[in-house]
Formats: sequence, structure tokens, C-alpha cells
Amino acid sequence: MTTPAVIIHGGFFSELTTSQETKTAKQNALRHIIRQTWAFLQTHSALETTIFACTLLEDDPLFNAGTGSQIQSDGVIRMSASICDGESQKFSGVINIENVKNPILVAEKLLSREDRILAGEGALNFAREQGFGPFDTRTELRIQDYEQKKSELVKTGTVGCVALDHQGRLAASTSTGGKGFEIVGRVSDSATVAGNYANAFCGVSTTGVGEDIVNGAVAAKIVTRVTDGMSLQQAVDKTFKELLPFDGFAGIIAIDHQGNMMQKDSHPNIVYAMKNAGTEEIFG
Ligand code: GLY
Repeated sequence: MTTPAVIIHGGFFSELTTSQETKTAKQNALRHIIRQTWAFLQTHSALETTIFACTLLEDDPLFNAGTGSQIQSDGVIRMSASICDGESQKFSGVINIENVKNPILVAEKLLSREDRILAGEGALNFAREQGFGPFDTRTELRIQDYEQKKSELVKTGTVGCVALDHQGRLAASTSTGGKGFEIVGRVSDSATVAGNYANAFCGVSTTGVGEDIVNGAVAAKIVTRVTDGMSLQQAVDKTFKELLPFDGFAGIIAIDHQGNMMQKDSHPNIVYAMKNAGTEEIFG
């Protein structure tokens, strides 16, 4: 039996002005969610657990995923989410899906399909076929952000979870409302292997500027390096060093097959929480 571990993140701060009140509220939300997720992991697989955690994070309007997602330049919310099951080595995701409550649950339905990443209208049609009804994920705060049109500010919230279960299986899930005010059609990293990846050796979920994360192939590189024998610390450090030439803006959470948990960010302040049998820590 493996000693299980779980780590979640609520992205970088994505509000136009981040107050101490918001910061505390996010930390409290993460504390609540990591405890629920930890309890869930005791009787569920890593895969089920990461999906469970992302659903809770998507439902909390404090975070930029599901309810509370950022609004794109044309006033519409389009969300992206993906799941990577380290055991079966299957990846599924939705890109730029509109008007559903939990994009991560639509991605889950795709795990068992041959076509596993769907975008835009196709993703929405699939969701409706699967019984996901219409849901408006706008919140007052995001509408205010949008109306102020402060697109020059970094808006990089995303949510994610990586888990290692009692059987030693790893999984990673990530969900985002994007960076806010993006050109219609822009594709986030969150439903790519740069933003979310896992295999039998390591799982990684990222947050940050999607373009930088894709440029650095961040999650896939870290997982590959651990698979090839590097320690998690070395793999993360090397991958972040490779972001420096273009000032890549990224943050990650990761767990390896030995239960080592890690977080790293290139810029302040990713909010995250980690838990195993011995520790519970909330940061950000
Ligand atoms: N990392 C989220 C995004 O850039 O869309």
C-alpha cells in the first residue's frame, strides 16, 4: 500500500485588486476543500479524487474556473478543463466550452471515448447529449472585472488537483476560465499536456499564463523528467529554469510516485494546499 497524498491549487490571484480579505477567503476555501478531498481519497481512486476536487473548486466563485470564470473579450465565458489518468495514461478535455456548470465533469465523460478532447460547439453539444444542462457561470465580480477592461493586468487563476491514492496511482485534473479578455478562439494550456499531465511516475497541474506554459511544455516536461530518473525537485527546477529566457509566468503543483509533493511558482502568489497522513499545509 502507498501512503496517499493530495495537493490542490486555486491559481494565481486573478482579481483586479487582491485584498487581504480575498486572500484569506481563498485560503479558507482551500482548507475546507483539501479536507473534503483528503477524506474522499481514503475510499476513492486518485482519478476520482482529482475530479472531485476540481468540481468543488469550480463551484466556488472565488476561483477562476466553472462558476466565477473570467470573461473573454466578446463578453462570453468559455472554459477549459482536462483530466490525465496516470494509470491508464489517458488524457481527456474540453476547450472553450460555454454554459455548463462543471467542465471537468464533461471531460470525465470523454475519458472513456475514442475522441477525447472536444472544443467549442462540439464540446457543448456533447455535454448536452450527456445531460449537462445550461448554467450561467458569471459572477458580479467577473462582470466588474470585464467592464473595467483591465486586460493588461495578469489574470491567471486556474484550479487543479494532483492525487496519489492508496494503490499508488496518480492522476491530475485542471480547470480554468482562461486568462480573461482573450481573443475569441484562444486556446488555454489547461486542456493540453503542457498544463495538465500524469503517468505512473508523476502528476502535474499548472496555473499561469497559458502561452508561457505551452512554450515551456511545463507539465509534460516535468513528468517526463521524473519518469527518466530525475528527482521531482530537479525536474521542477530544470523546467522552471527553462522559463527564464522568456520570463515565463507559471506555477505548478506536483506529486511523484513516492508521495513527494511540490509546488513552485515563477511569480507570486499561487494559492495552494497539500495534505498527506502527516501534514496539512495551506499557502498563498
Ligand atoms: N492557465 C490558464 C490560461 O492561461 O488559460
